[in-house]
Amino acid sequence: HRHLLGIEGLSPLDIEALLDLAEAQVEVSRQVEKKKSTLRGRTQINLFFEPSTRTQSSFEIAGKRLGADVMNMSVASSSVKKGETLIDMAATLNAMRPDLIVVRHHAAGAVHLLAQKVDCSVVNAGDGAHEHPTQALLDALTIRRNKGRIQGLTVAICGDILHSRVARSNMILLAALGARVRLVAPSTLLPPDIGRLGFETFTDMRKGLDGADIVMMLRLQLERMNGSFVPSVKEYFRFYGLDQEKLSYAKPGALVMHPGPMNRGVEIASEVADGAQSLIREQVEMGVAVRMAVLEALASHLPNR
Ligand code: CP
Repeated sequence: HRHLLGIEGLSPLDIEALLDLAEAQVEVSRQVEKKKSTLRGRTQINLFFEPSTRTQSSFEIAGKRLGADVMNMSVASSSVKKGETLIDMAATLNAMRPDLIVVRHHAAGAVHLLAQKVDCSVVNAGDGAHEHPTQALLDALTIRRNKGRIQGLTVAICGDILHSRVARSNMILLAALGARVRLVAPSTLLPPDIGRLGFETFTDMRKGLDGADIVMMLRLQLERMNGSFVPSVKEYFRFYGLDQEKLSYAKPGALVMHPGPMNRGVEIASEVADGAQSLIREQVEMGVAVRMAVLEALASHLPNR
Protein backbone atom coordinates (compact mmCIF):
# COMPACT_ATOMS: atom_id res chain seq x y z
CA HIS A 1 0.00 0.00 0.00
CA ARG A 2 1.20 3.51 -0.86
CA HIS A 3 -1.33 5.32 1.37
CA LEU A 4 -3.25 4.56 4.57
CA LEU A 5 -6.70 6.00 3.91
CA GLY A 6 -8.83 3.66 6.01
CA ILE A 7 -9.11 0.28 7.70
CA GLU A 8 -11.49 -0.68 4.89
CA GLY A 9 -9.31 -2.27 2.24
CA LEU A 10 -6.80 -3.74 4.70
CA SER A 11 -6.77 -7.52 5.10
CA PRO A 12 -6.58 -9.17 8.55
CA LEU A 13 -2.96 -10.04 7.65
CA ASP A 14 -2.16 -6.37 6.85
CA ILE A 15 -3.65 -5.34 10.21
CA GLU A 16 -1.75 -8.01 12.19
CA ALA A 17 1.49 -7.05 10.42
CA LEU A 18 1.02 -3.38 11.40
CA LEU A 19 0.26 -4.37 15.01
CA ASP A 20 3.40 -6.54 15.14
CA LEU A 21 5.48 -3.68 13.74
CA ALA A 22 3.94 -1.32 16.32
CA GLU A 23 4.77 -3.74 19.12
CA ALA A 24 8.46 -3.33 18.26
CA GLN A 25 8.09 0.48 18.26
CA VAL A 26 6.78 0.40 21.84
CA GLU A 27 10.20 -0.90 22.88
CA VAL A 28 12.00 1.77 20.81
CA SER A 29 9.90 4.49 22.45
CA ARG A 30 10.73 3.21 25.95
CA GLN A 31 14.49 3.47 25.39
CA VAL A 32 16.51 6.50 26.46
CA GLU A 33 17.80 6.91 22.87
CA LYS A 34 14.65 6.84 20.72
CA LYS A 35 15.90 7.98 17.35
CA LYS A 36 15.87 5.68 14.31
CA SER A 37 16.93 6.51 10.75
CA THR A 38 14.20 4.84 8.64
CA LEU A 39 12.90 8.21 7.41
CA ARG A 40 16.17 10.16 7.46
CA GLY A 41 16.15 12.79 4.72
CA ARG A 42 12.38 12.46 4.23
CA THR A 43 9.88 15.29 4.66
CA GLN A 44 6.55 14.79 6.45
CA ILE A 45 3.83 17.44 6.43
CA ASN A 46 1.05 17.33 9.04
CA LEU A 47 -2.01 19.07 7.61
CA PHE A 48 -4.80 19.36 10.19
CA PHE A 49 -7.98 21.22 9.24
CA GLU A 50 -9.64 20.17 12.53
CA PRO A 51 -8.32 20.53 16.09
CA SER A 52 -6.22 17.71 17.53
CA THR A 53 -4.13 17.06 20.61
CA ARG A 54 -3.26 13.36 20.48
CA THR A 55 -3.16 12.57 16.76
CA GLN A 56 -1.14 15.55 15.56
CA SER A 57 1.42 15.46 18.36
CA SER A 58 1.91 11.70 18.11
CA PHE A 59 2.37 11.85 14.31
CA GLU A 60 4.97 14.58 14.86
CA ILE A 61 6.79 12.58 17.55
CA ALA A 62 6.53 9.39 15.45
CA GLY A 63 8.00 11.08 12.36
CA LYS A 64 10.83 12.62 14.38
CA ARG A 65 11.64 9.32 16.13
CA LEU A 66 12.06 7.79 12.66
CA GLY A 67 14.39 10.61 11.60
CA ALA A 68 12.05 12.55 9.26
CA ASP A 69 11.89 16.34 8.98
CA VAL A 70 8.36 17.10 10.17
CA MET A 71 6.48 20.29 9.31
CA ASN A 72 3.20 21.13 11.04
CA MET A 73 1.18 23.21 8.61
CA SER A 74 -0.68 25.92 10.45
CA VAL A 75 -4.03 25.71 8.65
CA ALA A 76 -5.64 28.41 10.80
CA SER A 77 -3.12 30.99 9.52
CA SER A 78 -2.82 29.56 5.98
CA SER A 79 -4.24 30.89 2.69
CA VAL A 80 -7.29 28.62 3.17
CA LYS A 81 -8.53 31.68 5.04
CA LYS A 82 -8.19 33.67 1.79
CA GLY A 83 -10.31 31.18 -0.15
CA GLU A 84 -7.69 28.73 -1.47
CA THR A 85 -9.28 25.34 -2.14
CA LEU A 86 -8.11 22.01 -0.71
CA ILE A 87 -6.98 20.91 -4.18
CA ASP A 88 -4.95 24.07 -4.83
CA MET A 89 -3.42 23.76 -1.39
CA ALA A 90 -2.53 20.11 -2.07
CA ALA A 91 -0.88 21.07 -5.39
CA THR A 92 1.08 23.83 -3.64
CA LEU A 93 2.38 21.57 -0.90
CA ASN A 94 3.08 18.81 -3.46
CA ALA A 95 5.36 21.20 -5.37
CA MET A 96 7.58 21.35 -2.26
CA ARG A 97 8.23 17.60 -2.73
CA PRO A 98 7.16 16.13 0.60
CA ASP A 99 7.37 12.35 1.00
CA LEU A 100 4.41 12.00 3.36
CA ILE A 101 1.33 14.09 4.11
CA VAL A 102 -0.77 13.32 7.20
CA VAL A 103 -4.24 14.86 6.83
CA ARG A 104 -7.22 15.52 9.09
CA HIS A 105 -10.26 17.12 7.48
CA HIS A 106 -13.87 17.77 8.50
CA ALA A 107 -15.27 16.33 5.24
CA ALA A 108 -15.58 12.55 4.71
CA GLY A 109 -13.67 11.63 1.56
CA ALA A 110 -11.45 14.74 1.52
CA VAL A 111 -8.33 12.70 2.34
CA HIS A 112 -9.00 10.27 -0.54
CA LEU A 113 -9.41 13.22 -2.90
CA LEU A 114 -6.16 14.79 -1.72
CA ALA A 115 -4.34 11.46 -2.17
CA GLN A 116 -5.28 11.50 -5.87
CA LYS A 117 -3.72 14.95 -6.33
CA VAL A 118 -0.24 14.44 -4.85
CA ASP A 119 2.79 12.30 -5.68
CA CYS A 120 3.61 11.25 -2.12
CA SER A 121 2.11 8.91 0.50
CA VAL A 122 -0.98 10.15 2.33
CA VAL A 123 -2.17 9.05 5.78
CA ASN A 124 -5.72 9.67 6.96
CA ALA A 125 -5.69 11.22 10.45
CA GLY A 126 -9.51 11.45 10.49
CA ASP A 127 -11.95 12.53 7.76
CA GLY A 128 -15.39 13.69 8.90
CA ALA A 129 -17.48 10.83 10.25
CA HIS A 130 -15.78 8.39 7.84
CA GLU A 131 -12.52 6.81 9.12
CA HIS A 132 -9.72 7.30 11.65
CA PRO A 133 -7.56 4.27 10.85
CA THR A 134 -4.61 4.91 13.17
CA GLN A 135 -7.02 5.29 16.12
CA ALA A 136 -8.50 1.84 15.42
CA LEU A 137 -4.99 0.37 15.10
CA LEU A 138 -3.85 1.87 18.41
CA ASP A 139 -7.03 0.64 20.09
CA ALA A 140 -6.42 -2.87 18.71
CA LEU A 141 -2.79 -2.82 19.90
CA THR A 142 -3.92 -1.74 23.38
CA ILE A 143 -6.53 -4.52 23.53
CA ARG A 144 -4.08 -7.15 22.25
CA ARG A 145 -1.43 -6.20 24.81
CA ASN A 146 -3.93 -6.41 27.69
CA LYS A 147 -6.04 -9.40 26.64
CA GLY A 148 -3.48 -11.28 24.54
CA ARG A 149 -5.88 -11.50 21.57
CA ILE A 150 -8.82 -9.84 19.83
CA GLN A 151 -10.52 -12.93 18.40
CA GLY A 152 -13.60 -13.91 20.43
CA LEU A 153 -13.67 -10.84 22.70
CA THR A 154 -16.95 -8.97 23.20
CA VAL A 155 -16.40 -5.26 22.60
CA ALA A 156 -19.20 -2.78 23.39
CA ILE A 157 -18.78 0.51 21.49
CA CYS A 158 -20.96 3.04 23.29
CA GLY A 159 -22.30 6.53 22.66
CA ASP A 160 -22.31 8.86 19.66
CA ILE A 161 -21.80 6.23 16.96
CA LEU A 162 -23.60 8.33 14.33
CA HIS A 163 -20.88 11.00 14.19
CA SER A 164 -17.91 8.81 15.02
CA ARG A 165 -15.11 7.95 12.57
CA VAL A 166 -13.45 6.18 15.51
CA ALA A 167 -16.45 3.84 15.85
CA ARG A 168 -16.52 3.15 12.11
CA SER A 169 -12.82 2.25 11.84
CA ASN A 170 -13.02 0.17 15.00
CA MET A 171 -16.11 -1.71 13.82
CA ILE A 172 -14.35 -2.70 10.58
CA LEU A 173 -11.07 -3.64 12.28
CA LEU A 174 -12.51 -5.55 15.24
CA ALA A 175 -14.92 -7.52 13.04
CA ALA A 176 -12.04 -8.36 10.65
CA LEU A 177 -10.02 -9.79 13.56
CA GLY A 178 -12.93 -11.85 14.92
CA ALA A 179 -14.24 -9.81 17.87
CA ARG A 180 -17.96 -9.70 18.68
CA VAL A 181 -18.84 -6.02 18.29
CA ARG A 182 -21.89 -4.51 20.00
CA LEU A 183 -23.12 -0.97 19.43
CA VAL A 184 -24.78 0.76 22.41
CA ALA A 185 -26.47 4.13 21.86
CA PRO A 186 -29.75 6.01 21.89
CA SER A 187 -31.49 5.33 18.57
CA THR A 188 -30.96 8.99 17.56
CA LEU A 189 -27.17 8.46 17.69
CA LEU A 190 -27.12 5.27 15.62
CA PRO A 191 -26.71 5.55 11.83
CA PRO A 192 -30.12 4.88 10.21
CA ASP A 193 -28.84 1.95 8.10
CA ILE A 194 -26.86 0.31 10.92
CA GLY A 195 -29.00 -2.86 10.98
CA ARG A 196 -27.82 -3.64 7.45
CA LEU A 197 -24.23 -4.04 8.67
CA GLY A 198 -25.16 -6.92 10.97
CA PHE A 199 -23.86 -5.56 14.29
CA GLU A 200 -25.82 -6.25 17.47
CA THR A 201 -27.32 -2.96 18.69
CA PHE A 202 -28.62 -1.96 22.14
CA THR A 203 -30.37 1.17 23.37
CA ASP A 204 -30.14 0.01 27.02
CA MET A 205 -26.62 0.56 28.36
CA ARG A 206 -26.81 -2.13 31.05
CA LYS A 207 -27.97 -4.79 28.58
CA GLY A 208 -25.35 -3.71 26.07
CA LEU A 209 -22.56 -3.95 28.63
CA ASP A 210 -23.70 -7.29 30.05
CA GLY A 211 -20.74 -9.70 29.76
CA ALA A 212 -18.53 -7.32 27.70
CA ASP A 213 -14.73 -7.72 27.84
CA ILE A 214 -14.06 -4.21 26.56
CA VAL A 215 -16.18 -1.07 26.99
CA MET A 216 -15.19 1.53 24.42
CA MET A 217 -16.72 4.95 25.12
CA LEU A 218 -17.11 7.69 22.50
CA ARG A 219 -17.20 11.45 22.86
CA LEU A 220 -20.56 13.14 22.36
CA GLN A 221 -19.73 15.25 19.26
CA LEU A 222 -21.90 18.29 19.94
CA GLU A 223 -19.99 20.27 17.27
CA ARG A 224 -21.44 17.98 14.57
CA MET A 225 -25.07 18.36 15.76
CA ASN A 226 -25.86 21.97 14.71
CA GLY A 227 -27.08 22.72 18.22
CA SER A 228 -29.91 20.19 17.96
CA PHE A 229 -28.91 17.74 20.70
CA VAL A 230 -31.81 16.56 22.81
CA PRO A 231 -32.22 15.59 25.60
CA SER A 232 -29.80 17.51 27.83
CA VAL A 233 -26.20 16.53 28.46
CA LYS A 234 -27.19 15.83 32.09
CA GLU A 235 -29.88 13.37 31.01
CA TYR A 236 -27.48 11.77 28.51
CA PHE A 237 -25.04 11.05 31.35
CA ARG A 238 -27.82 9.48 33.43
CA PHE A 239 -28.70 6.97 30.70
CA TYR A 240 -25.49 6.57 28.68
CA GLY A 241 -22.64 7.94 30.81
CA LEU A 242 -20.26 5.22 32.02
CA ASP A 243 -20.04 5.20 35.80
CA GLN A 244 -18.96 2.42 38.18
CA GLU A 245 -22.54 1.14 38.54
CA LYS A 246 -23.10 0.65 34.79
CA LEU A 247 -19.59 -0.77 34.38
CA SER A 248 -20.44 -3.46 36.98
CA TYR A 249 -22.69 -5.09 34.32
CA ALA A 250 -19.63 -5.84 32.13
CA LYS A 251 -17.39 -8.86 32.83
CA PRO A 252 -15.38 -8.63 36.06
CA GLY A 253 -12.09 -7.00 35.09
CA ALA A 254 -13.54 -5.56 31.88
CA LEU A 255 -11.34 -2.82 30.45
CA VAL A 256 -12.47 0.71 29.61
CA MET A 257 -11.28 2.72 26.63
CA HIS A 258 -11.88 6.23 25.28
CA PRO A 259 -10.12 7.76 22.25
CA GLY A 260 -10.08 11.24 23.81
CA PRO A 261 -10.74 14.05 24.14
CA MET A 262 -13.02 13.06 27.03
CA ASN A 263 -15.99 15.01 28.27
CA ARG A 264 -15.99 14.05 31.94
CA GLY A 265 -19.50 13.87 33.36
CA VAL A 266 -21.01 13.64 29.85
CA GLU A 267 -20.07 10.21 28.45
CA ILE A 268 -17.75 9.04 31.23
CA ALA A 269 -17.42 9.58 34.99
CA SER A 270 -14.02 10.52 36.42
CA GLU A 271 -14.18 7.52 38.80
CA VAL A 272 -14.07 5.24 35.72
CA ALA A 273 -11.79 7.33 33.48
CA ASP A 274 -9.15 7.44 36.24
CA GLY A 275 -9.95 4.02 37.71
CA ALA A 276 -8.05 0.73 37.72
CA GLN A 277 -9.93 -0.64 34.69
CA SER A 278 -9.09 2.32 32.45
CA LEU A 279 -6.68 1.94 29.51
CA ILE A 280 -6.98 5.57 28.41
CA ARG A 281 -3.36 6.61 29.13
CA GLU A 282 -2.01 3.41 27.58
CA GLN A 283 -4.01 4.17 24.41
CA VAL A 284 -2.09 7.43 24.09
CA GLU A 285 1.28 5.67 24.43
CA MET A 286 0.24 3.10 21.82
CA GLY A 287 -0.71 5.97 19.52
CA VAL A 288 2.93 6.93 19.03
CA ALA A 289 3.98 3.30 18.41
CA VAL A 290 1.20 2.69 15.88
CA ARG A 291 1.98 5.91 13.99
CA MET A 292 5.67 4.97 13.86
CA ALA A 293 4.65 1.56 12.48
CA VAL A 294 2.40 3.11 9.81
CA LEU A 295 5.09 5.60 8.70
CA GLU A 296 7.70 2.82 8.63
CA ALA A 297 5.39 0.51 6.64
CA LEU A 298 4.90 3.25 4.06
CA ALA A 299 8.64 4.00 3.91
CA SER A 300 9.32 1.40 1.20
CA HIS A 301 6.68 3.05 -1.03
CA LEU A 302 7.93 6.62 -0.68
CA PRO A 303 8.97 8.39 -3.90
CA ASN A 304 12.54 7.81 -5.16
CA ARG A 305 13.52 11.24 -6.32
N1 CP B 1 -8.39 10.52 19.55
C1 CP B 1 -8.10 11.61 18.81
O1 CP B 1 -8.14 11.60 17.57
O2 CP B 1 -7.76 12.72 19.54
P1 CP B 1 -7.37 14.16 18.95
O3 CP B 1 -8.63 14.71 18.29
O4 CP B 1 -6.91 14.97 20.13
O5 CP B 1 -6.29 13.96 17.92
